[in-house]
Amino acid sequence: MTSMTSGAARLTSLMARGAEFLGSEVAILCGAMSWVSERNLVAAMSNAGGFGLIACGAMTPELLDAEIAGTKALTDKPFGVNLITMHPQLMDLIEVCTRHNVTHVVLAGGLPPAGSLEAIKAGGAKLICFAPALSLAKKLIRSGVDALVVEGMEAGGHIGPVSTSVLAQEILPEVADKVPVFVAGGIGRGEAIAAYLEMGAAGVQLGTRFVCATESIAHPNFKKAFLRASARDAVASVQIDPRLPVIPVRALKNAGGELFTAKQREVAGLLDEGKVAMAEAQLQIEHYWAGALRRAVIDGDVEHGSVMAGQSVGMVTKEEPVAEIIAALVSEAETALAKRG
Ligand SMILES: Cc1cc2nc3c(=O)[nH]c(=O)nc-3n(C[C@H](O)[C@H](O)[C@H](O)COP(=O)(O)O)c2cc1C
Repeated sequence: MTSMTSGAARLTSLMARGAEFLGSEVAILCGAMSWVSERNLVAAMSNAGGFGLIACGAMTPELLDAEIAGTKALTDKPFGVNLITMHPQLMDLIEVCTRHNVTHVVLAGGLPPAGSLEAIKAGGAKLICFAPALSLAKKLIRSGVDALVVEGMEAGGHIGPVSTSVLAQEILPEVADKVPVFVAGGIGRGEAIAAYLEMGAAGVQLGTRFVCATESIAHPNFKKAFLRASARDAVASVQIDPRLPVIPVRALKNAGGELFTAKQREVAGLLDEGKVAMAEAQLQIEHYWAGALRRAVIDGDVEHGSVMAGQSVGMVTKEEPVAEIIAALVSEAETALAKRG
């Protein structure tokens, strides 16, 4: 065997478990990105041999129903749906997934609320959850979750406080033999994919790297902002009021950051006056993000909207088809593994 074919064989073998779990050719998920991960990007991802995820975000059950049907019209490969745990109609959204025989459901935004895990599994789908710490990873596995995503703070969008490299070291050795674990956050090239697979990951999840795919419907201004940005432009939002815990969001620096500070002040004021309860205050912040992201992704207002992006944004250098992005990642991973001999 030449070293390159051995690199390819090694990658196939390292990805086998994750690819089997997903029903894809390669164990690379395109993480759900609100407004970006709709039928076109999801279908392109699955058609190219990876695994696409619809971002349900704040969609109503009717809109999700239409999005799943639209995706099915563009691909006959498996894809998944990402649901946010705080969605007030979570159980109805699960029902929509079941009706469509969606094979994989990702629950984002916290531990599965009562009844949701059972409903997803009873509907026949595999359940994937985010594990922000080792203790939670173990708890999720005990409760019957089928796979985990371990996502570090390098990622775009809502983030936790710990880096991908630390989470991977803490979590993979303890749980990778129990359920498939997909590592996410800050992955821009195949060398990093090879490294996480060798550490025991079943696969990886990337978001930022796929935003500028030709098939992505993100506004040309949004894509241009990505192509211009470097790692240090993708900064985490700052919490201004200790009583109002807001989950930080990583996005490109712009005037929208200041609008978010103003929004936090406004919501903190409402809390002070007793006009809203904490849960409602946090929901208002989440709605703010959804609106700000839409403004940037769909309307192209990258100055006042939220241009959520991970630190790998500097490695996004051109608009290209999903299949080419996957081919580049695979080839980089194969070369890295071949060099190990
Ligand atoms: C523009 C954007 C929007 C995102 N929206 C969501 C979302 O709605 N739900 C979610 O679970 N993750 C969301 N994410 C996170 C991605 O699914 C993925 O896990 C993350 O991008 C991986 O890290 P990376 O950006 O470093 O590749 C978003 C990320 C980006 C860049």
